Amino acid sequence: MTDNPIFAVAARAETLRARGADVITLAAGEPQAATSAVVVEAAVAAVRDPVAHHYGPAQGDPDLRELVAANVTRDTGPAWTADDVQIALGAKHALFLALQALVGAGDEVLVAGPGWPGHAEVVAAAGGVAVPVTADKEFRVSVDALDRCRTSRTRALILSSPGNPTGAVHPESRLRDIADWAQRHGMWVISDDIYRAFDYTGTYQSILRVAPQLRCRSVVVGGVSKEHAMTGWRVGWLAAPREIIASARLHVSRTITHVPTVNQRAALAALDDHDTPARAARDYARRRTMLVEALNQIDGIDCPLPDGGMFAFPDVSGLLHDRGWSSSADLAAWLLDTAHVAVVPGEAFNAPGRIRVCFAIDDETLITAIDRLKAALGPVPEADTRQLEEAR
Ligand SMILES: Cc1ncc(COP(=O)(O)O)c(C=O)c1O
Repeated sequence: MTDNPIFAVAARAETLRARGADVITLAAGEPQAATSAVVVEAAVAAVRDPVAHHYGPAQGDPDLRELVAANVTRDTGPAWTADDVQIALGAKHALFLALQALVGAGDEVLVAGPGWPGHAEVVAAAGGVAVPVTADKEFRVSVDALDRCRTSRTRALILSSPGNPTGAVHPESRLRDIADWAQRHGMWVISDDIYRAFDYTGTYQSILRVAPQLRCRSVVVGGVSKEHAMTGWRVGWLAAPREIIASARLHVSRTITHVPTVNQRAALAALDDHDTPARAARDYARRRTMLVEALNQIDGIDCPLPDGGMFAFPDVSGLLHDRGWSSSADLAAWLLDTAHVAVVPGEAFNAPGRIRVCFAIDDETLITAIDRLKAALGPVPEADTRQLEEAR
């Protein structure tokens, strides 16, 4: 059994740090910022409230479920109530709860490739078989590709838009095609909306928004991890038809009992804080441009501008060829050891020849990381990372 390869990069970076190296991590799949003060204060208040010291409902705090339902209704169109929501230990756990309800041993679930390895991992953990669907050149899933992967065992599709690591946002017409396909073949659609706040094109739509008829065969997964810099708090959710929620509630009740109450109160405060995700989205949009422009100045790197998410996903195959590295994993290891910049090799996402570079990091650190990358991988034309400083 292998662990998530992204954690392996983080572990190597930690080892170097422990030896005194000044390592910058652009490998993490999380915002580097601290959780906002308003959320921390809500958690402190919850810690002091004896009600939060005792057992709560397995399905999750009713106030939190109500707010989640209102948000999912706003995003998707069809009405959802607190009864349609299960609170989970992060979006990954929410995905697992949905899959253990939907998938029997050997059932197949289609996942986008390149894609977040966690999708395949939760499918496997739930007893299913993840089948990678090769995305098109713009990293979007097409109906042709879905059809090529469909068998009599296919139960569901996991769609994440904006995606990780690609940042691809599926436009309305593509979502409509996918929805028609799902309906035609009686597929479940699991919409992983964890990056919904980070759409830099203004084109993000939930698949249910364009195809509300899918409501009875859809699971909407979300959480506070990315939007609110709360990855360590472990609060996510699923909104789904009642039979899925009943199964998820039973699973939670039999295993973890419920998500810790203090953390749910923190998530409740987060959902009331609209400034933090809006500010993060503005900052990430600016950093995305700065990073992509800098990467494209390096000979042998071709970096598309991602539509959404928190990552650049450049093609480094030209660099590998020119400089003699045999794989992007070799390049990433070399960058970590010599430039002390951690990135994730594309192999982790089934995309050899690429690397994933996170831009959810503060301006100063990102500028330093860019300077190091350029020094290590140059020569490059006069670089202008100072532009950002002037713009600020
Ligand atoms: C597409 C996607 N979904 C879900 C998750 C997991 O989110 P959480 O930390 O809330 O479990 C991640 C984390 O990287 C992700 O990239």
